[in-house]
Amino acid sequence: MDYQAFFAGHLDRLRDEGRYRVFAELERIVGAFPRARLHRAGATPREVTVWCSNDYLGMSQHPTVVKAMQAAIGAQGSGAGGTRNIAGTNTLHVALEHELARLHEKEAALVFTSGYVANETTLQTLGAMLPGCELYSDSFNHASMIAGIRHSGAVRKIFRHNDTAHLEQLLTAADPETPKIVAFESVYSMDGDISPIGTMCDIAHRHNALTYLDEVHAVGMYGNRGAGVAERDGVLAKVDIVQGTLAKAFGVVGGYIASTAATVDFIRSCGNGFIFSTSMPPAIAAAALASVRHVTNHPELRVRHQERAATLKRRLQVVGLPVMPSISHIVPVSVGDAALCKQASDLLLDRHDIYVQPINYPTVPRGTERLRITPTPLHSDEDMARLVKALESVWQELELGRRAAAE
Ligand SMILES: Cc1ncc(COP(=O)(O)O)c(C=O)c1O
Repeated sequence: MDYQAFFAGHLDRLRDEGRYRVFAELERIVGAFPRARLHRAGATPREVTVWCSNDYLGMSQHPTVVKAMQAAIGAQGSGAGGTRNIAGTNTLHVALEHELARLHEKEAALVFTSGYVANETTLQTLGAMLPGCELYSDSFNHASMIAGIRHSGAVRKIFRHNDTAHLEQLLTAADPETPKIVAFESVYSMDGDISPIGTMCDIAHRHNALTYLDEVHAVGMYGNRGAGVAERDGVLAKVDIVQGTLAKAFGVVGGYIASTAATVDFIRSCGNGFIFSTSMPPAIAAAALASVRHVTNHPELRVRHQERAATLKRRLQVVGLPVMPSISHIVPVSVGDAALCKQASDLLLDRHDIYVQPINYPTVPRGTERLRITPTPLHSDEDMARLVKALESVWQELELGRRAAAE
C-alpha cells in the first residue's frame, strides 16, 4: 500500500467537503481575556476577540489560579514523577480530590489527566468488570463515553437523546438481574440542551441500574456552588457517579469522577487509564484546586455568565440570526452547510477580528453545521455589539439568512 497517498487522499476529501480542520494559532494575553493575538505565517500578529473558548469563566488566567500554579512549580517543580502508584501521588492530588468530593457531596473523588480519560477509563472498567454488564447510552453522548463503552465489550444499548420513555422501554425489556449503567450528560455542548437528570436517575434506579453523569459542560457554572446541573436541580444524591473536567469552567486541565468510596477505590485499583499513565503535574493540581475553591465561593460568576448568554441570544434573535434553541450558556447559530460554515468563520476572523470556529461533521450531524458561540462573564456589551454586527455582515455576504429561512 502507498501509505502516504492514502493519507493525502483522505485529507483531500476532507478539504473537498469543507471539513478540513485549520487551527487558528492564538497567543493568549493574561489580563486581556477574551482577547488573544492571532499568528499567521508571513503576517504580523494581530489582536482578535475569542468567542468560542471552553474557558467558560476565564479562570485560566485568573490571578488566584496563575499564582497557585506558579507557587507550586517553584515549590515542587514541573512533572509528577510517575504514575500515582509509582511516585506520582502528591499532597496536591489528594487535596484536590477531597475538594472535588466535597463539591459533589460524594465520599471520594479520583483525578485523571483529562475528562476524556476519566470517561473512557471509568466506563471501560465498569463495563468490562461488572459481570454481564449492559451500558445504556444517550445517542448524543460524547466520543470519550462512546470509546469507554465500546472498549469495555459490554452490551451497548443506545436510547434516543434525552428520551426518558425510550430509556424506560429499553430497561423494562432487560433482565432485572443484569448489572446496568445508564450513562448521559447534563449539558450537551453542541446544542446547548440539558437532560432531565432527576427523571433519568429515577428510571434507572427503578430498574436497579447505576447512573453515570458527565457534567463536563456544567461544573463550575450551574448550581449554587458550581457542582453542576445536578446541584441546580437538587438531585446530587441521585447521581451514582459524576464525571467532570478541570479544563473548561475551572480553566486548567484534567478530569475526575466522584462517587462512593468503594466505587472510586475500584476504579483507582482497576482502571488502566488511571493506573498506567503518569499523574497530573502537582502545579496543575494546585491551579485546579485554587480554581475550584474560587469558583465554588463566587456564585456571582454564574449569575453573570447566564446573563451574558441570555443577552447574546436575545440580541441575535432581534436581528433575525438563526440562534438554535439552547437553554444553557451555549449559543449555537445554525449555518447548515460545512463549506459555508467554514467561510463564515474565516470572514469573521479576516474582516472582523473575531474568532468563532466552525462546527462540522463528525462533531455534529451533516446538515446541522453551526457556529458555536460561548459568551463568558468577561465579554462586554461592546464586544457583543461588535459580534452581532459582524455576524449580520457575514450572513448578508454569504446569503445565509435566506438559506436558514428556506430550511
Ligand atoms: C461532554 C464531554 N465529556 C468529556 C470531554 C472531555 O473532557 P476533557 O476536555 O477534559 O478531556 C468533553 C470535551 O470537550 C466533552 O465535551
